[in-house]
Amino acid sequence: MRPYLIPGLLVLASSALAGVVGFPDSATDTFAVVINKVITPLTTTNETFPLWSGTVAGAHAYSGYRYVMLSANGTVVKKESFLRVFTDKKATSTSNEFFLREVTQTTLPSIPQVYDSVRPAPSRAFNESLIGTIHLTADPATFADMVAHPLDDDRKAIKASFRFINADTTYSAAEVKLKVSGHGSREFKKLSLRVKFDEDKGETFFDRPIIKLRSETSDPTMFREKLYFDILDSIGVKTTQGAWVRVYVNGQPFGFHLMVQDIEDPFLRGTVHLGSSQPKELGSLYQMGSHVLGLEATLQYNGSLTADYNPEIYSNQILGDNPKKEPMTQLISFFKDLQEYDPTMSGGIKFWNSRLDLDGYLRAMAMEYLTGNWDAYWWKGNNYFMYYNPIEARWLFLPTDFDSTFSDGGLADVLTTYKNFAAKRLARKGKDHPLITKLIYKNKDINARFENILLTIVKKVFNTKALEARINAYETMIQDEVKWDYSLDRSKNPGKTTGFTITDFHKSITGGVKGVNIGIKPWIKDRETSVPTQVSTA
Ligand SMILES: *[C@@H]1O[C@H](CO)[C@@H](O)[C@H](O)[C@H]1NC(C)=O
Ligand SMILES: *[C@@H]1O[C@H](CO)[C@@H](O)[C@H](O)[C@H]1NC(C)=O
Ligand SMILES: *[C@@H]1O[C@H](CO)[C@@H](O)[C@H](O)[C@H]1NC(C)=O
Ligand SMILES: *[C@@H]1O[C@H](CO)[C@@H](O)[C@H](O)[C@H]1NC(C)=O
Repeated sequence: MRPYLIPGLLVLASSALAGVVGFPDSATDTFAVVINKVITPLTTTNETFPLWSGTVAGAHAYSGYRYVMLSANGTVVKKESFLRVFTDKKATSTSNEFFLREVTQTTLPSIPQVYDSVRPAPSRAFNESLIGTIHLTADPATFADMVAHPLDDDRKAIKASFRFINADTTYSAAEVKLKVSGHGSREFKKLSLRVKFDEDKGETFFDRPIIKLRSETSDPTMFREKLYFDILDSIGVKTTQGAWVRVYVNGQPFGFHLMVQDIEDPFLRGTVHLGSSQPKELGSLYQMGSHVLGLEATLQYNGSLTADYNPEIYSNQILGDNPKKEPMTQLISFFKDLQEYDPTMSGGIKFWNSRLDLDGYLRAMAMEYLTGNWDAYWWKGNNYFMYYNPIEARWLFLPTDFDSTFSDGGLADVLTTYKNFAAKRLARKGKDHPLITKLIYKNKDINARFENILLTIVKKVFNTKALEARINAYETMIQDEVKWDYSLDRSKNPGKTTGFTITDFHKSITGGVKGVNIGIKPWIKDRETSVPTQVSTA
């Protein structure tokens, strides 16, 4: 196996402390720091691995340094080709750096804020300017068996220990629950994982006690989803935040992943209610999916009882104010209002605002259209939640899972006007999505509101000028990690592979690659040009 170090902490003073995060090639390899040609060994323990640290006598913040890997007899077997320097000349220690990665922190160009921000307070773990490292340890046979059977729905989560390290933060948990996550993504060799911390033991991982490590396997750039989060933040839609991580299991590379929160109680507390202790009890939460029997979460009324709704399509996650035996009651009453609603009536905005965070919903739909998101509500009746917000006494639409965007999936009929977007699908018998057709297509006032939102988003953020610098920064920031990910041998895993290469990574930003017809930049350019011609500029 190849060596991967995370250079850790180098402490300076009259002496200096150095630290590197690194995974040795072999069990007897170790890491060291070289300053002025003097090699100082770094050490690690079971409590800190893969962080290696040490103190270097006589070093100071003006010293240049590099990390090396040593074999058992002290020979340098791998060394960094670049010289590291301190930017802060008063520093007394290094941050936790990663072996062979020159850049530890990326200052990301900002994206214009279109509507008021609703993003939660910044988190030390979800720090988008850093690439973190996660080291999981699990019984090797149990873990291998889980990876060999990703589609096994009955498999219980396995036990693992967890360590997270980024430039300035480390976090360890002795026992977490680990399982394969996702639906379609489980059919691929590269898997997504879900990690659940033991909240009863106070292990809350910076208020994100359930995280997913998303594989981003269908996207050659691996950053389409992150860009989608960024734009949702810009347009004031409540959403999960994401940060990149390298994942290792039992010292072996597992892959480069986007660490995100799951939409569950802690997300509602932190992001929807912004950490407030109110409401005392959370409202009801439903997860919508469309992965069985060709059914879709259309939001159509299908009867007055919970039993009238397939629980895999509409899954109650938090009971809220519903009767225990009828967990669908509140949502069914929303379906009923929607069914009975006559879109030709006046007062549509007022009617829906009292039942739904209408602007939040319309902005989320604008993003579905703008990114050609074919795996979401508008196109597929999939990948969203509805939360009954007891503080506002109305519903909140919560979109999730944004990898099938910006032409990922290569579907031809997403590249069209918003009026044609999914129109053929909505015309299928019994497959109408009434929250689209009745509100966005058929109600004059809401349609005007939607068009205004669409145009505003395109003018202010969904355009080349606003997004290009961020896209370029992501390209530079993650290219080495993507290259590393694409080099990993997953041939023994079951499932499909996309076979993307680092060339595809770069190409899929500016043009088409196999399965993804259009690059991110030309996709944005297309919508940017087309939207102003689609809306009646009132
Ligand atoms: C560190 O962990 C390994 C593997 O679990 C174990 O064999 C070893 O004894 C541990 N070392 C110490 C010092 O606890
Ligand atoms: C030290 O280890 C390296 C790498 O394992 C090996 O190539 C070299 O021959 C060894 N040198 C001595 C003096 O044993
Ligand atoms: C993110 O990381 C940078 C670099 O280590 C640090 O300066 C910043 O404070 C971090 N942000 C948060 C919210 O921890
Ligand atoms: C609606 O009801 C029919 C008949 O009971 C059932 O077959 C179908 O699965 C239901 N649809 C959903 C989305 O639950």
